[in-house]
Amino acid sequence: MSNIQIPRGTQDILPGESEKWQWVEQIARELCTNYQYKEIRTPIFEHTELFQRGVGDSTDIVQKEMYTFKDRGDRSITLRPEGTASVARSFVENKMHGLPDQPVKLYYLGPMFRYERPQAGRFRQFVQFGVEALGSNDPAIDAEVISLAMNIYKKVGLKNIKLVINSLGDQDSRLAYREALVNHFKGSIHEFCSDCQNRLEQNPLRILDCKKDRDHDLMKTAPSILEYLNDSSKEYFQKVQTFLNGLGIPFEVDPNLVRGLDYYNHTAFEIMSNAEGFGAITTLCGGGRYNGLVEDLGGPETPGIGFAFSVERLLSAIEAEQLDIHFAKPLDCYLVGLGESAREKTLPLLQEMRMNGVAAETDYLDRKMKAQMKSANRLHARFVVILGDDEIEKGVALVKNMESGDQVEVSLSELVEHIRTA
Ligand code: HAM
Repeated sequence: MSNIQIPRGTQDILPGESEKWQWVEQIARELCTNYQYKEIRTPIFEHTELFQRGVGDSTDIVQKEMYTFKDRGDRSITLRPEGTASVARSFVENKMHGLPDQPVKLYYLGPMFRYERPQAGRFRQFVQFGVEALGSNDPAIDAEVISLAMNIYKKVGLKNIKLVINSLGDQDSRLAYREALVNHFKGSIHEFCSDCQNRLEQNPLRILDCKKDRDHDLMKTAPSILEYLNDSSKEYFQKVQTFLNGLGIPFEVDPNLVRGLDYYNHTAFEIMSNAEGFGAITTLCGGGRYNGLVEDLGGPETPGIGFAFSVERLLSAIEAEQLDIHFAKPLDCYLVGLGESAREKTLPLLQEMRMNGVAAETDYLDRKMKAQMKSANRLHARFVVILGDDEIEKGVALVKNMESGDQVEVSLSELVEHIRTA
């Protein structure tokens, strides 16, 4: 019988790797707490209609990439491809607009699913860390959200990152721009790929994002959204830039940054890695403002802005920049028990250590002292504690400091404290 293998585009995160994930996740969580974003956990599957309405029927995500199936009650269910639509649904369902503290600032961390062609940086199951701020139309919160994303990367230690921003304007600006794009492309749309031909009517902005047709002459001469922003949209975008400057966050304005989801308006942004050897897909993080989404999902008029990044791409960036990070908590103590009576002592001692903040390990394979010392070395134990019949009789343990090589006798009643405070 052949072995069963992991599905394409997914990965096992094994010990050695999982510590890196925990480390990154903890940095992001802590910074969110300082920025006062609170965690929300929504289901991994939702009604398919949520993403059709939220992310948008004409997007690649909805048209080509969703894991959609009928459940046993004949309902169409989809594994979430992203988090924003779910957060907006939950905001409406739980009437969060009525909460006393506004805007409502939320973060989430969890697996997302997209049926994409797997390649470096592109998985079918990936973990997004995302934030959403709902209920404020202040350009200062755009700057806060962008700065939070940038500062997570900064805390992690990444140096080669670049922030790119754009404005998609309000509804009116977008409509005007849409018309300009249709006029620009329609005469020659037969020279474009079939996706772009569909996009012309459904979502002409997405033509600018096409990988197949990006070298077509009409792409270079396409009108820029920035020329179609009305005065209030221009002013909004200007203020976001002023606040970013005030925060000392460098950025580039790229009028071709359109993003792949339909809900965006006004501010759109991406953070890219400039690190050499990072690979073809350089986007680490994407986000923007989505002022109509909550209303589209049946809620009251509520502005919103957020971002999401995948932990996978963040870890690739750490690797590409060759950051020297010690992810794992070191082992404090390896306890060597010699003989039967020692075993009865080691278990309670181990328990006491572990319950008092000491990471401790022992042998469960009845190995010789030498083999146990090898394990202790491999695990980078700070101390080895040796407990034989003699020591037990005396009520002590032999404590070896693995760094200095010093060896001392410590009474069993003081052992845990000795290691904890060393
Ligand atoms: P998105 O640009 O589709 O936006 O995805 C955001 C980030 O998720 C990407 O920049 C990338 O880090 C990661 N990502 C997406 N697809 C994959 C994949 N197949 N494999 C690995 N990583 C991936 C959104 O999802 C929006 N919900 C972001 C947002 C939040 N906008 C406002 N609030």
